[in-house]
Amino acid sequence: MAEKKFKAMIVEESADNIFQRIIKEKSTGELPDGDVLVQVKYSSLNYKDALSATGNRGVTRNYPHTPGIDASGIVEESRDDRFRPGDAVIVTSYDLGMNTPGGFGQYIRVPVDWVVKLPPRLSLEESMIFGTAGFTAGVGAWHLSAIRPDQGEILVTGATGGVGSLAVAILAKCGYSVTAVTGKSTEKQFLRDLGAQNIINREAALDTGGRPLLKARWAGVFDTVGGEMLATAIKSTDLYGTVTCCGNVSSPDLPINVFPFILRGIHLVGISSQNTPMDLRLKIWDRLADKWKPEKLHMLPKYIPLEALDENIALILKGQQKGRVVVDLEK
Ligand SMILES: NC(=O)c1ccc[n+]([C@@H]2O[C@H](COP(=O)([O-])OP(=O)(O)OC[C@H]3O[C@@H](n4cnc5c(N)ncnc54)[C@H](OP(=O)(O)O)[C@@H]3O)[C@@H](O)[C@H]2O)c1
Repeated sequence: MAEKKFKAMIVEESADNIFQRIIKEKSTGELPDGDVLVQVKYSSLNYKDALSATGNRGVTRNYPHTPGIDASGIVEESRDDRFRPGDAVIVTSYDLGMNTPGGFGQYIRVPVDWVVKLPPRLSLEESMIFGTAGFTAGVGAWHLSAIRPDQGEILVTGATGGVGSLAVAILAKCGYSVTAVTGKSTEKQFLRDLGAQNIINREAALDTGGRPLLKARWAGVFDTVGGEMLATAIKSTDLYGTVTCCGNVSSPDLPINVFPFILRGIHLVGISSQNTPMDLRLKIWDRLADKWKPEKLHMLPKYIPLEALDENIALILKGQQKGRVVVDLEK
């Protein structure tokens, strides 16, 4: 098929450690070889995209580069029988947006094994309100389902962020009593609207006293921030509770000892959404499309064009984003 011109954000290194982001015209001929060419309709902004867009070599090794770990759109070409032109699809995880040009461009070309058919009852737009953030919250909900709602409260940290806000909404939809931790005192109503029953300030959720165990308060925890916050949450989890861990916006360290595990039998479950096996991936997307889909899903996003990514990247890096940022590639 003839090459097509399209618009994409390109991150370029102009000098050592100086990265600039510009919107440029590209051609589908410049995309890497792959099985499926997708016209991207929506993408979304995640913390990892902000790292890629600002030169973090742990996420993206080589520049110039187009970030965007999330994309949903319509298949335009496929050399694999599993997909045909016109199919609506979701592409997240694997290497998309890391070292493979991602969803901050109007076209992507990817291996077929990265592509998920859009489930019934989910629109392309909704799939990107979830995006990697919602998928990660879904993986957490999957592991936390070991806990019955009548066993007690579930704590969600970083609650107004992309992953946290979707975790609050999904876990509330699953019937849990959710307690949300936030550093944004002005956003309590936002969290209540999503389904949080209790809200605590970030400082009140931190214990830096060094005690190995604290009063047991939580049946389960969905942590997005790591560091002292995760350590405090683990030490405050009740017998045989489950704690999931996915992020490190506070710190990658975990200042803790073994006592919560050997005295309370706590299960600490790591989430690597990027490497979730396809069979579980499909189950999670099916649930997000149906029984886990929050009624308030549409209150979470703001919609932006590619041109507004720069200012939103700055906000997410400062921990000041609320809910989700959906990139509308047709705007
Ligand atoms: N492992 C995986 O598969 C996976 C997948 C997706 C994301 N992640 C990780 O999960 C984390 C969250 O991602 P995101 O896209 O949701 O980011 P985000 O939208 O920026 O949300 C992070 C939230 O954490 C809170 N926060 C910020 N700085 C903090 C600090 N110093 N201490 C405590 N809380 C702080 C803020 O919420 P409040 O103001 O409400 O406290 C902030 O909105 C990131 O580390 C990301 O890399 C991992």
